[in-house]
Amino acid sequence: METYRPRRSVLYIPASNDRALAKIAQLSCDAIIIDLEDAVAPADKIAARGKLAAIFAGHADRRCEMIVRINAVASEWGADDLLAAASCEPDGILLPKVDTPRDLLEAGDVLDDNFAPDSVKLWAMIETPKAMLNIGTIAELGRDPAARLACFVAGTNDLVKDTGVLATPDRRYLVPWLMHMVLAARAGGIDMIDGVSNDFRDLDAFARECTESAAMGFDGKSIIHPAQIEAANRAFAPSKEAVAEARLIKDTFALAENAGKSVIALNGKMVERLHLAQAEKLLAKAAATGA
Ligand code: COA
Ligand code: MG
Repeated sequence: METYRPRRSVLYIPASNDRALAKIAQLSCDAIIIDLEDAVAPADKIAARGKLAAIFAGHADRRCEMIVRINAVASEWGADDLLAAASCEPDGILLPKVDTPRDLLEAGDVLDDNFAPDSVKLWAMIETPKAMLNIGTIAELGRDPAARLACFVAGTNDLVKDTGVLATPDRRYLVPWLMHMVLAARAGGIDMIDGVSNDFRDLDAFARECTESAAMGFDGKSIIHPAQIEAANRAFAPSKEAVAEARLIKDTFALAENAGKSVIALNGKMVERLHLAQAEKLLAKAAATGA
Protein backbone atom coordinates (compact mmCIF):
# COMPACT_ATOMS: atom_id res chain seq x y z
CA MET A 1 0.00 0.00 0.00
CA GLU A 2 1.17 3.55 -0.71
CA THR A 3 2.46 5.32 2.37
CA TYR A 4 0.59 8.34 3.67
CA ARG A 5 2.57 11.48 4.31
CA PRO A 6 0.57 13.99 6.34
CA ARG A 7 0.36 17.50 4.92
CA ARG A 8 -2.46 18.75 7.09
CA SER A 9 -0.87 22.05 8.03
CA VAL A 10 1.51 23.74 5.62
CA LEU A 11 2.94 26.90 7.19
CA TYR A 12 4.43 29.78 5.23
CA ILE A 13 7.39 31.49 6.87
CA PRO A 14 8.91 34.51 5.13
CA ALA A 15 12.64 33.85 4.64
CA SER A 16 13.17 37.46 5.76
CA ASN A 17 11.54 36.97 9.18
CA ASP A 18 14.23 35.76 11.60
CA ARG A 19 11.95 35.67 14.63
CA ALA A 20 9.51 33.40 12.82
CA LEU A 21 12.31 31.23 11.43
CA ALA A 22 13.69 30.75 14.94
CA LYS A 23 10.47 28.92 15.86
CA ILE A 24 10.77 26.14 13.26
CA ALA A 25 11.95 23.39 15.63
CA GLN A 26 9.01 23.94 18.00
CA LEU A 27 6.23 23.99 15.42
CA SER A 28 3.90 21.01 15.08
CA CYS A 29 2.88 21.66 11.49
CA ASP A 30 3.40 18.90 8.90
CA ALA A 31 5.23 21.11 6.42
CA ILE A 32 6.90 24.49 6.26
CA ILE A 33 7.23 26.66 3.20
CA ILE A 34 10.17 29.03 3.45
CA ASP A 35 8.92 31.86 1.28
CA LEU A 36 11.08 33.94 -1.04
CA GLU A 37 8.12 35.19 -3.08
CA ASP A 38 5.18 37.34 -1.99
CA ALA A 39 6.05 37.54 1.70
CA VAL A 40 9.47 39.06 0.94
CA ALA A 41 9.82 42.67 -0.24
CA PRO A 42 11.83 43.22 -3.45
CA ALA A 43 14.59 45.01 -1.54
CA ASP A 44 15.03 41.94 0.70
CA LYS A 45 14.88 39.22 -1.96
CA ILE A 46 18.59 38.62 -2.39
CA ALA A 47 19.36 38.69 1.32
CA ALA A 48 16.48 36.26 1.93
CA ARG A 49 17.84 33.85 -0.70
CA GLY A 50 21.26 34.09 0.94
CA LYS A 51 19.82 32.77 4.20
CA LEU A 52 18.47 29.52 2.78
CA ALA A 53 21.63 27.47 3.26
CA ALA A 54 21.90 28.39 6.95
CA ILE A 55 18.19 27.73 7.52
CA PHE A 56 18.48 24.21 6.10
CA ALA A 57 21.81 23.50 7.82
CA GLY A 58 20.13 24.36 11.12
CA HIS A 59 17.36 21.81 10.53
CA ALA A 60 19.23 18.84 9.10
CA ASP A 61 17.27 16.48 11.37
CA ARG A 62 13.92 17.99 10.42
CA ARG A 63 10.73 16.25 11.43
CA CYS A 64 8.38 18.12 9.10
CA GLU A 65 8.76 18.58 5.38
CA MET A 66 10.62 21.73 4.39
CA ILE A 67 9.73 23.38 1.11
CA VAL A 68 11.10 26.55 -0.51
CA ARG A 69 8.79 28.81 -2.48
CA ILE A 70 10.89 30.61 -5.05
CA ASN A 71 10.01 33.67 -7.14
CA ALA A 72 8.52 32.99 -10.56
CA VAL A 73 11.23 31.57 -12.79
CA ALA A 74 10.47 34.35 -15.32
CA SER A 75 11.15 37.07 -12.71
CA GLU A 76 14.56 38.62 -12.14
CA TRP A 77 15.11 36.43 -9.06
CA GLY A 78 13.60 33.12 -10.15
CA ALA A 79 16.52 31.37 -11.85
CA ASP A 80 18.96 32.07 -9.01
CA ASP A 81 16.30 31.18 -6.42
CA LEU A 82 15.84 27.80 -8.08
CA LEU A 83 19.56 26.98 -7.95
CA ALA A 84 19.91 28.20 -4.37
CA ALA A 85 16.88 26.19 -3.27
CA ALA A 86 18.06 23.05 -5.09
CA SER A 87 21.44 23.17 -3.38
CA CYS A 88 19.70 22.98 0.03
CA GLU A 89 18.04 19.69 -0.99
CA PRO A 90 14.63 20.60 0.43
CA ASP A 91 11.72 18.17 0.34
CA GLY A 92 10.18 20.33 -2.32
CA ILE A 93 10.47 23.51 -4.33
CA LEU A 94 7.20 25.36 -4.74
CA LEU A 95 6.86 27.15 -8.07
CA PRO A 96 4.50 30.15 -8.14
CA LYS A 97 2.49 31.31 -11.15
CA VAL A 98 2.64 27.95 -12.92
CA ASP A 99 0.61 28.27 -16.15
CA THR A 100 1.49 25.15 -18.15
CA PRO A 101 3.16 21.74 -17.79
CA ARG A 102 6.20 23.28 -19.50
CA ASP A 103 6.84 25.49 -16.45
CA LEU A 104 7.29 22.36 -14.35
CA LEU A 105 9.25 20.43 -16.96
CA GLU A 106 11.74 23.28 -17.35
CA ALA A 107 12.25 23.58 -13.60
CA GLY A 108 12.67 19.80 -13.43
CA ASP A 109 15.36 19.96 -16.12
CA VAL A 110 17.27 22.53 -14.08
CA LEU A 111 17.10 20.23 -11.05
CA ASP A 112 18.31 17.27 -13.12
CA ASP A 113 21.13 19.29 -14.70
CA ASN A 114 22.28 20.31 -11.23
CA PHE A 115 22.14 16.77 -9.84
CA ALA A 116 19.40 17.50 -7.33
CA PRO A 117 18.48 14.16 -5.72
CA ASP A 118 15.14 12.58 -6.63
CA SER A 119 13.92 13.41 -3.12
CA VAL A 120 13.68 17.07 -4.17
CA LYS A 121 10.11 17.28 -5.44
CA LEU A 122 8.29 20.04 -7.25
CA TRP A 123 5.19 21.63 -5.83
CA ALA A 124 3.05 23.96 -7.94
CA MET A 125 0.93 26.95 -6.99
CA ILE A 126 -2.41 26.84 -8.78
CA GLU A 127 -3.23 30.51 -8.79
CA THR A 128 -3.60 31.77 -12.36
CA PRO A 129 -6.52 31.53 -14.78
CA LYS A 130 -4.21 29.72 -17.21
CA ALA A 131 -3.30 27.12 -14.59
CA MET A 132 -7.01 26.50 -14.02
CA LEU A 133 -7.53 25.93 -17.74
CA ASN A 134 -4.47 23.68 -18.06
CA ILE A 135 -4.80 21.90 -14.75
CA GLY A 136 -5.52 18.45 -16.18
CA THR A 137 -2.35 18.31 -18.24
CA ILE A 138 -0.31 19.84 -15.43
CA ALA A 139 -1.62 17.22 -12.98
CA GLU A 140 -0.81 14.40 -15.39
CA LEU A 141 2.86 15.02 -14.65
CA GLY A 142 2.15 13.53 -11.23
CA ARG A 143 2.06 10.11 -12.92
CA ASP A 144 5.61 10.49 -14.22
CA PRO A 145 8.15 10.18 -11.36
CA ALA A 146 10.79 11.87 -13.53
CA ALA A 147 8.71 15.06 -13.46
CA ARG A 148 9.05 15.20 -9.62
CA LEU A 149 5.56 16.70 -9.17
CA ALA A 150 4.23 15.91 -5.67
CA CYS A 151 1.75 18.55 -4.65
CA PHE A 152 -0.52 21.41 -5.74
CA VAL A 153 -1.11 24.42 -3.51
CA ALA A 154 -4.14 26.63 -4.14
CA GLY A 155 -3.21 30.30 -4.41
CA THR A 156 -6.59 31.73 -3.60
CA ASN A 157 -5.50 35.35 -3.10
CA ASP A 158 -3.96 35.47 -6.59
CA LEU A 159 -6.95 33.73 -8.14
CA VAL A 160 -9.27 36.33 -6.61
CA LYS A 161 -7.00 39.11 -7.83
CA ASP A 162 -6.65 37.77 -11.37
CA THR A 163 -10.27 36.81 -11.95
CA GLY A 164 -12.15 39.56 -10.16
CA VAL A 165 -14.42 37.21 -8.22
CA LEU A 166 -15.58 38.47 -4.87
CA ALA A 167 -13.88 36.88 -1.86
CA THR A 168 -16.66 35.99 0.59
CA PRO A 169 -16.40 34.21 3.96
CA ASP A 170 -18.02 31.09 2.50
CA ARG A 171 -15.78 31.25 -0.61
CA ARG A 172 -18.80 30.58 -2.80
CA TYR A 173 -17.25 31.89 -6.02
CA LEU A 174 -13.99 30.04 -5.48
CA VAL A 175 -15.48 26.68 -4.56
CA PRO A 176 -16.02 25.47 -8.16
CA TRP A 177 -12.36 26.06 -8.95
CA LEU A 178 -11.22 24.56 -5.65
CA MET A 179 -13.22 21.40 -6.33
CA HIS A 180 -11.75 21.21 -9.81
CA MET A 181 -8.25 21.43 -8.30
CA VAL A 182 -9.02 18.49 -6.01
CA LEU A 183 -10.29 16.46 -8.94
CA ALA A 184 -7.20 17.21 -11.03
CA ALA A 185 -4.85 16.38 -8.17
CA ARG A 186 -6.57 13.01 -7.69
CA ALA A 187 -6.29 12.30 -11.41
CA GLY A 188 -2.56 12.98 -11.16
CA GLY A 189 -2.11 11.06 -7.89
CA ILE A 190 -0.71 14.07 -6.06
CA ASP A 191 -1.65 15.98 -2.91
CA MET A 192 -3.81 19.10 -2.92
CA ILE A 193 -3.38 21.82 -0.31
CA ASP A 194 -6.07 24.46 0.17
CA GLY A 195 -5.25 28.19 0.16
CA VAL A 196 -4.74 30.49 3.15
CA SER A 197 -7.27 32.20 5.39
CA ASN A 198 -6.07 35.78 5.64
CA ASP A 199 -7.99 36.49 8.86
CA PHE A 200 -5.57 34.67 11.17
CA ARG A 201 -7.07 36.15 14.36
CA ASP A 202 -10.50 34.55 13.83
CA LEU A 203 -9.71 30.97 14.78
CA ASP A 204 -13.36 29.88 14.90
CA ALA A 205 -13.88 30.90 11.30
CA PHE A 206 -10.59 29.23 10.45
CA ALA A 207 -11.63 25.94 12.07
CA ARG A 208 -14.89 26.02 10.10
CA GLU A 209 -13.03 26.64 6.87
CA CYS A 210 -10.71 23.69 7.62
CA THR A 211 -13.65 21.36 8.26
CA GLU A 212 -15.19 22.45 4.97
CA SER A 213 -11.88 22.07 3.19
CA ALA A 214 -11.39 18.52 4.49
CA ALA A 215 -14.92 17.67 3.35
CA MET A 216 -14.06 19.01 -0.11
CA GLY A 217 -11.24 16.48 -0.29
CA PHE A 218 -8.19 18.63 0.36
CA ASP A 219 -5.20 17.00 2.09
CA GLY A 220 -4.38 20.06 4.15
CA LYS A 221 -4.45 23.80 4.48
CA SER A 222 -1.93 26.51 3.73
CA ILE A 223 -1.48 28.55 6.88
CA ILE A 224 0.26 31.81 7.74
CA HIS A 225 0.41 31.82 11.54
CA PRO A 226 1.36 29.23 14.19
CA ALA A 227 -2.01 29.74 15.91
CA GLN A 228 -3.64 28.03 12.91
CA ILE A 229 -1.66 24.77 13.15
CA GLU A 230 -3.79 22.96 15.68
CA ALA A 231 -7.13 23.46 13.94
CA ALA A 232 -5.69 22.33 10.62
CA ASN A 233 -4.07 19.24 12.13
CA ARG A 234 -7.39 18.34 13.73
CA ALA A 235 -9.60 18.93 10.71
CA PHE A 236 -7.50 16.93 8.24
CA ALA A 237 -6.95 13.93 10.52
CA PRO A 238 -9.66 11.25 10.53
CA SER A 239 -12.28 11.70 13.25
CA LYS A 240 -12.71 9.13 16.04
CA GLU A 241 -16.03 8.05 14.51
CA ALA A 242 -14.49 7.58 11.09
CA VAL A 243 -11.65 5.50 12.57
CA ALA A 244 -14.11 3.31 14.49
CA GLU A 245 -16.18 2.73 11.37
CA ALA A 246 -13.10 1.89 9.31
CA ARG A 247 -11.96 -0.64 11.93
CA LEU A 248 -15.38 -2.24 11.92
CA ILE A 249 -15.35 -2.59 8.14
CA LYS A 250 -11.87 -4.09 8.21
CA ASP A 251 -12.70 -6.52 11.04
CA THR A 252 -15.95 -7.58 9.42
CA PHE A 253 -14.36 -8.36 6.06
CA ALA A 254 -11.70 -10.36 7.95
CA LEU A 255 -14.29 -12.75 9.43
CA ALA A 256 -14.08 -16.28 8.01
CA GLU A 257 -17.74 -16.14 6.94
CA ASN A 258 -17.00 -13.12 4.73
CA ALA A 259 -13.90 -14.51 3.04
CA GLY A 260 -14.20 -14.12 -0.71
CA LYS A 261 -17.34 -11.97 -0.47
CA SER A 262 -17.38 -8.79 -2.57
CA VAL A 263 -20.25 -7.19 -0.76
CA ILE A 264 -21.61 -7.54 2.77
CA ALA A 265 -24.30 -5.93 4.90
CA LEU A 266 -23.11 -4.02 7.95
CA ASN A 267 -25.54 -2.27 10.31
CA GLY A 268 -28.11 -2.14 7.56
CA LYS A 269 -25.78 -0.67 4.95
CA MET A 270 -24.14 -2.15 1.90
CA VAL A 271 -20.37 -2.33 2.22
CA GLU A 272 -18.22 -3.28 -0.75
CA ARG A 273 -14.54 -4.14 -1.11
CA LEU A 274 -13.97 -0.57 -2.32
CA HIS A 275 -15.11 0.56 1.12
CA LEU A 276 -12.54 -1.80 2.62
CA ALA A 277 -9.81 -0.16 0.53
CA GLN A 278 -11.08 3.24 1.65
CA ALA A 279 -11.13 2.08 5.28
CA GLU A 280 -7.56 0.79 5.06
CA LYS A 281 -6.43 4.11 3.63
CA LEU A 282 -8.15 5.98 6.43
CA LEU A 283 -6.56 3.72 9.08
CA ALA A 284 -3.11 4.34 7.58
CA LYS A 285 -3.82 8.06 7.75
CA ALA A 286 -4.98 7.74 11.37
CA ALA A 287 -1.82 5.83 12.28
CA ALA A 288 0.41 8.43 10.64
CA THR A 289 -1.31 11.32 12.41
CA GLY A 290 -1.73 9.64 15.76
CA ALA A 291 -5.51 9.98 15.42
N1 COA B 1 5.78 31.24 11.16
C1 COA B 1 6.42 31.12 12.34
N2 COA B 1 6.23 32.00 13.35
C2 COA B 1 5.36 33.01 13.14
C3 COA B 1 4.67 33.16 11.91
C4 COA B 1 4.92 32.23 10.90
N3 COA B 1 4.31 32.31 9.71
N4 COA B 1 3.87 34.24 12.01
C5 COA B 1 4.04 34.74 13.22
N5 COA B 1 4.95 34.02 13.91
C6 COA B 1 5.44 34.24 15.28
C7 COA B 1 5.86 35.67 15.43
O1 COA B 1 7.23 35.79 15.09
C8 COA B 1 5.61 35.91 16.90
O2 COA B 1 6.68 35.46 17.69
P1 COA B 1 7.71 36.53 18.33
O3 COA B 1 6.90 37.38 19.21
O4 COA B 1 8.71 35.68 19.02
O5 COA B 1 8.28 37.26 17.18
C9 COA B 1 4.44 35.01 17.22
O6 COA B 1 4.37 34.06 16.18
C10 COA B 1 3.15 35.77 17.26
O7 COA B 1 3.01 36.52 16.09
P2 COA B 1 1.92 37.67 15.98
O8 COA B 1 2.41 38.88 16.70
O9 COA B 1 0.63 37.12 16.37
O10 COA B 1 1.89 37.96 14.43
P3 COA B 1 2.70 39.06 13.64
O11 COA B 1 1.89 40.33 13.67
O12 COA B 1 4.09 39.10 14.10
O13 COA B 1 2.70 38.48 12.15
C11 COA B 1 1.92 38.03 9.98
C12 COA B 1 1.52 38.37 11.39
C13 COA B 1 0.69 37.73 9.15
C14 COA B 1 2.68 39.21 9.37
C15 COA B 1 2.85 36.79 10.02
O14 COA B 1 2.13 35.79 10.68
C16 COA B 1 3.38 36.31 8.69
O15 COA B 1 4.26 36.92 8.12
N6 COA B 1 2.87 35.17 8.19
C17 COA B 1 3.33 34.58 6.97
C18 COA B 1 2.89 35.38 5.76
C19 COA B 1 3.33 34.74 4.49
O16 COA B 1 4.31 34.02 4.45
N7 COA B 1 2.59 35.00 3.39
C20 COA B 1 2.89 34.45 2.12
C21 COA B 1 1.97 33.35 1.76
S1 COA B 1 0.30 33.88 1.61
MG1 MG C 1 0.56 33.86 -5.08
